[in-house]
Amino acid sequence: LSVPQINRLLAHSLYCKQISKPWLEPQSHKPTKKTQLRMPSQSLFSKTIALLFSKRSTRTRLAAETSVSLLGGNALFLGKEDIQLGVNETPRDTARVIGGMTEGIFARVGAHEEIEELARYSPVPVVNALSSLWHPTQILADLLTLHEHSHLFAKPDSQADSTLEYKNMQTTVKSRKREKVMSLPELRPLTISYIGDSANVLHDMLVTYPRLGHSLRVATPSKYRAPSEVWKRVEELGCDKGIWWGEDPKEAVKGADVVVTDTWISMGQEAEKAQRLRDFQGYQVTEALCQEGGANPDWRFLHCLPRKQDEVDDEVFYGPRSLVFPEADNRKWTTMAVFDLFFGKWDISADSSKP
Ligand code: CP
Ligand code: NVA
Repeated sequence: LSVPQINRLLAHSLYCKQISKPWLEPQSHKPTKKTQLRMPSQSLFSKTIALLFSKRSTRTRLAAETSVSLLGGNALFLGKEDIQLGVNETPRDTARVIGGMTEGIFARVGAHEEIEELARYSPVPVVNALSSLWHPTQILADLLTLHEHSHLFAKPDSQADSTLEYKNMQTTVKSRKREKVMSLPELRPLTISYIGDSANVLHDMLVTYPRLGHSLRVATPSKYRAPSEVWKRVEELGCDKGIWWGEDPKEAVKGADVVVTDTWISMGQEAEKAQRLRDFQGYQVTEALCQEGGANPDWRFLHCLPRKQDEVDDEVFYGPRSLVFPEADNRKWTTMAVFDLFFGKWDISADSSKP
């Protein structure tokens, strides 16, 4: 997605959230006649979306099933034990067959090549629900969470007279039919630090945040650098200029407005657990690490979940800096917007904001 399309998708996510859950606002706890009448688009009415998951999931599956239901469609969960894929049937044949009976595929796979193959042979759109290399829908939820909490990221003094260009322009979206205009709260350029393993979530951060004007500071042990396929994409998108990468977690959190981490042992890496726990010693996100490293005193914390104590301690994870549960909730609204876009009828090209 281009930058204007990302912003438009985020604004549409906000619209999906507000129209689906008016009771989120305490003052509208009691639905009025007007709020009762507001309904999400039924763009998936009479459509079936296949959730083809070869790995476990809590958030992504919940987000998908609940948002398909809000959009009026039917979500069909196909776990690895349920279907012939991988045992008696190839991804190529599976894609053709599932695509022949459904209107969209949301797929969580092992190796990234598997989703490429599904997309090549599927007659319907395929959206990545996580692969070995990427986790694109996670980054949309992270971004929505940052925009919604933009008031927490006041301009530091050093930037008071800065001429920094705000690339995250105010984005408005006109929803189909109801012509509701939704504004995405403006977010100043942030310093976002990532400490830990170079895995799918970080890879999407690398190809997304620098394009939106944010700087990324990453610390991983040297043997856990992103693979060449990821760097190729980072360079193609011109994101390399916005990334600092080193091995020292304290250096990585310097000036951080947001600190992010992920598990050190991603799904499928269980056999490497002992080695990884040794290699990542010193990379746990803690108050002390961020203070010693010179993070912005108001730094906030993100984690895609599921979380283990190895990568972040309880003080940070459950403390006031943590945005992890609003982030998890936002998987739903961003997934709903993605499904409305890719599987429904919402037209992302009808962009009311100018790039
Ligand atoms: N963040 C995320 O993708 O969580 P699940 O693995 O539970 O879907
Ligand atoms: N990197 C993690 C993300 C889980 C949502 C994994 O792939 O298991």
